[in-house]
Amino acid sequence: MKDKILKLKRELEAVIVAHNYQRAEVLDIADYVGDSFYLSQVVQKCQNETVVFAGVYFMAESAKILSPQKEILLPVLDAACPLANMVDLNTLKEYKEKYSDYTFVCYINTNAEVKAMCDVVVASSNAEKILSKIENDKIFFLPDRNLGEYIKNKFPNKKFIIWNGFCPVHQKIQAKHILSLKEKIDNLIVLAHPECNREVREIADFLGSTKEIIDFANRTKFKNYLIATEDGVIHTLKQTNPDKNFYVPGAPATCIDMKKTTLEDIYNSLLHKKHSINVKQEISNLALKSLNKMIELAG
Ligand code: 13P
Ligand code: SF4
Repeated sequence: MKDKILKLKRELEAVIVAHNYQRAEVLDIADYVGDSFYLSQVVQKCQNETVVFAGVYFMAESAKILSPQKEILLPVLDAACPLANMVDLNTLKEYKEKYSDYTFVCYINTNAEVKAMCDVVVASSNAEKILSKIENDKIFFLPDRNLGEYIKNKFPNKKFIIWNGFCPVHQKIQAKHILSLKEKIDNLIVLAHPECNREVREIADFLGSTKEIIDFANRTKFKNYLIATEDGVIHTLKQTNPDKNFYVPGAPATCIDMKKTTLEDIYNSLLHKKHSINVKQEISNLALKSLNKMIELAG
């Protein structure tokens, strides 16, 4: 299957990008692996006309909005992000009217309709930088309450209203499991995603996006790391750091949607050009403004 994919990819001059949470075999055949923001930039800058996006819907959709001339293929159409689906558009509309003096900041883990209604998008890797450049001291953040709270704590002079959404995968990661491992393992360095709850964030040595977590473990020289994010990152970490130990707290945190994509799905995606992502023009235009604002402020 791997050879068949690589042959077809060459013939079609396509590129395969994969989010850090994908299955190990998918990560191994991808041309680029990374976090949400990095991958959206890769797709925008690459020369290829056809892109297979091994990830979840909002990622392929954002890539399409940023690169409308390219064919963006999502191998499994129902690979969704439950967090992105936690925003009800009518409620958001009501909040926008009620809090019209607030800057609406949405996480990249949102659908295009939500991005279209907001002022700026942020990713976990650039949220702090972007917030530091927003002059308005009133911020409405959606939909992840954990990332929202993490950012809010960095800006004590700003007033925040935060949507009550959460990632079901990160929500399951518990501080008590981390603390019990810390008791057993000397110098255990805790690396966590800001989508984790407050108790976990408070005991983390480093907080960052999936790519930032991997980069941190690659560049530092500790022996034992605890990884508080989805378990897909462990494959990459072990490959690049064979001499280091990586632990997970409790049962591995697995995102079912991220793991839906198999090698066979990627092959079929290339073969049958499926599923080509399209976004309504009007929504795409508005969402592009918010995505471009992110790129401008993150630069
Ligand atoms: P990153 O942008 O850090 O890769 O996170 C995406 C995501 O879905 C986290 O759960
Ligand atoms: Fe969405 Fe959480 Fe899965 Fe990331 S890990 S794609 S935030 S459900």
